[in-house]
Amino acid sequence: MDKIRLGVLGAGNIAALNVKGYLLDPRCEVAAVCDTDEVVGRQAAQDWGAPSFYRDLDDMLGDSSLDAIEVLTPTHLHHDHVIAALEAGKHVSVQKPAANTIEDARAMGAAAERNGRTLRISECFVHYPPLELAKKLVADGAIGKPTSLRIRTLVGQTDSSFQANLRPEGYGWRLDSRSPGGHLFDDMVHKYAMALWLLDLDITSVQAVVRRRDLFMEPCAVLFEYEDPMVLGTMEVQYAPKLYMRSSYYGADEFFEITGDEGLIWVTRATGEMLDLAPVMLFTGNDQGCRTTEFRDLDADWGAGFVRSSQHFIDALTHGTPADMSPESAAKVLQLCFAVYQASEIGAPVDPRTMTGSVTPTGWADW
Ligand SMILES: NC(=O)c1ccc[n+]([C@@H]2O[C@H](COP(=O)([O-])OP(=O)(O)OC[C@H]3O[C@@H](n4cnc5c(N)ncnc54)[C@H](O)[C@@H]3O)[C@@H](O)[C@H]2O)c1
Repeated sequence: MDKIRLGVLGAGNIAALNVKGYLLDPRCEVAAVCDTDEVVGRQAAQDWGAPSFYRDLDDMLGDSSLDAIEVLTPTHLHHDHVIAALEAGKHVSVQKPAANTIEDARAMGAAAERNGRTLRISECFVHYPPLELAKKLVADGAIGKPTSLRIRTLVGQTDSSFQANLRPEGYGWRLDSRSPGGHLFDDMVHKYAMALWLLDLDITSVQAVVRRRDLFMEPCAVLFEYEDPMVLGTMEVQYAPKLYMRSSYYGADEFFEITGDEGLIWVTRATGEMLDLAPVMLFTGNDQGCRTTEFRDLDADWGAGFVRSSQHFIDALTHGTPADMSPESAAKVLQLCFAVYQASEIGAPVDPRTMTGSVTPTGWADW
């Protein structure tokens, strides 16, 4: 494929960040936009220079000149939309979370295999340069044998123009029974993906305490046991509703700490820019002395993960190489997500590898 003709399905709040990478890539042409909201869809088609607009997915899928579809519709629609696109012979990139259930994610993967097409789940954290660097440092042995991973998410406020311009319609489907859960499903799939991807180890047990605040927020403390019993992980989500933080995007930030026998790595930002620290820091030491290495010369803007994720999909289609994340990896992310809810519900450890279906925390969407 010389130039990939892409159709974009769903032109809502996150679409511009996703489409930017395609618009920047000379190997791709954004040829069509489909959205049931005609005003939103036509405006996006105009902004992105896409010659075709469709209100109906079947009409867009009938356009035989399109090679691939970027699915950016609400999560509960991913399963049907992705499978329809694959059955129509298109390659597909779909935003996280892959789907509302583990089986749906796997069925999407099976449809890709059946139709001989690429399906990947777009996970911007996998393509975020500071996290890519952290993973490489671990794999290169910079901290010796890894022993722990700590992931913190802090959600607060921001006055970023991105946040101010979000359309409220994008929130409705996240807050009712169309979603199996709140923040720990919708956003934290990124962090579950990191818990599995950064160390490239499977997680065998989860313990968790999950609370609820302000409809959607789910502060929590989580403990992961890895397949290597000498490796432990922790994940915390805190909510500071009156704290304004520096961010060009959502009012949230993430911090990652990976410890090994010989050192530790900090990734000090992701969605936001809260801390005045280098995006990645490596601390090492031996009997000759201690050393801090600051990595500042990398693109630490959170939007870079989206741009690179889109371009990675084009790479994969152009070269016929696998595209991250695979549907199976995305299904494992969902297993971890639902294991956290389940462990908190029953107050006991849960093996995420045994999870099927989905888990909805008690009281979710009862309002
Ligand atoms: N990577 C990230 O950090 C990130 C951030 C936000 C959202 N997302 C994911 O992206 C997806 C979209 O999220 P969003 O915030 O943009 O949602 P949104 O509700 O703002 O946008 C969805 C768009 O899809 C359109 N749509 C709905 N049903 C349709 C249909 N049947 N056919 C065509 N168009 C249809 C809507 O009109 C809307 O414009 C979700 O899966 C979400 O989880 C990922």
